[in-house]
Amino acid sequence: MTRAEPEADGRMGEALSALLDWYARAGISTFAREAPRDRFAETEAETERRRAGRPAAGGPAPAATQGAAPLAAPADRRPAPLPPRPAAPAIALRSDEALAAEAREQAAKAGSLAELQTLLAEFTGCGLKATAKNLVFGNGSETADLMLVGEAPGRDEDLAGEPFVGRSGRLLDRMLGSVGLKREDVRVTNTVPWRPPGNRTPTPAETETCLPFTLRHIELVNPRILVCLGSPSAKVLLRSEEGIMRLRGRWASITLPNGATVPTMAMLHPAYLLRQPSQKRLAWRDLLALKAKLDEKD
Ligand code: URA
Repeated sequence: MTRAEPEADGRMGEALSALLDWYARAGISTFAREAPRDRFAETEAETERRRAGRPAAGGPAPAATQGAAPLAAPADRRPAPLPPRPAAPAIALRSDEALAAEAREQAAKAGSLAELQTLLAEFTGCGLKATAKNLVFGNGSETADLMLVGEAPGRDEDLAGEPFVGRSGRLLDRMLGSVGLKREDVRVTNTVPWRPPGNRTPTPAETETCLPFTLRHIELVNPRILVCLGSPSAKVLLRSEEGIMRLRGRWASITLPNGATVPTMAMLHPAYLLRQPSQKRLAWRDLLALKAKLDEKD
């Protein structure tokens, strides 16, 4: 025995004692097994087994563990092979036309606004539904003389499930009030009933898909006058590619699937007016024209 051995034993003893002390402080007060487990030997055995490409169970004892305390066969940590994937279901991709046809079929079934709302809630043809929190169907009088169709719900509308309740909605209320109209007396809806992610503008495909529901909504309310608020609404309802600055303030008429025609005017969207207050003078002009039309005798 050399002089270094007792010194090494002493250092090992101190290290073990320090380790046990550390375990105790960490709250480890009992051992899981009677016999200690040599994790280093396990790791070496596993490395060797991987190198040899041998399975763990039943294999010969790896060389690295020879002479070490007998070990339970180390568990194979390699992930078990995945079961074969079931064949991917054929995804029924529906064309925009097929979606619009389905929307037309569903919307035509509604005999009341409540039924239309239920049918819309069940409709899965518009992808916006997946990211929205709530369906924003519409609000206001169900027999209104004036109906407004906005663009799409924003964050506040998505949370509330009601159209035009945020900043734009408050401006809309003031705009209506300025010509003696109460918000609860008009009917309000949007071209799409679900909030587009990040408040982006709804795509033409999305407004087209939802159009049959919007048209049925108008048919069921049967207003004397319709107003398109903003560009997406004006484009889809007036079937026009012209910009909102050219469309606004001009009277047109739309023909509904049931054959009824409704005098319609496009106006600047309240959200746009919040960003461009100088354009409120155009909105004021349009509001006066709207009020004059409403005051005309049938
Ligand atoms: N803007 C819209 O076009 N519709 C709403 O409901 C809210 C903001």
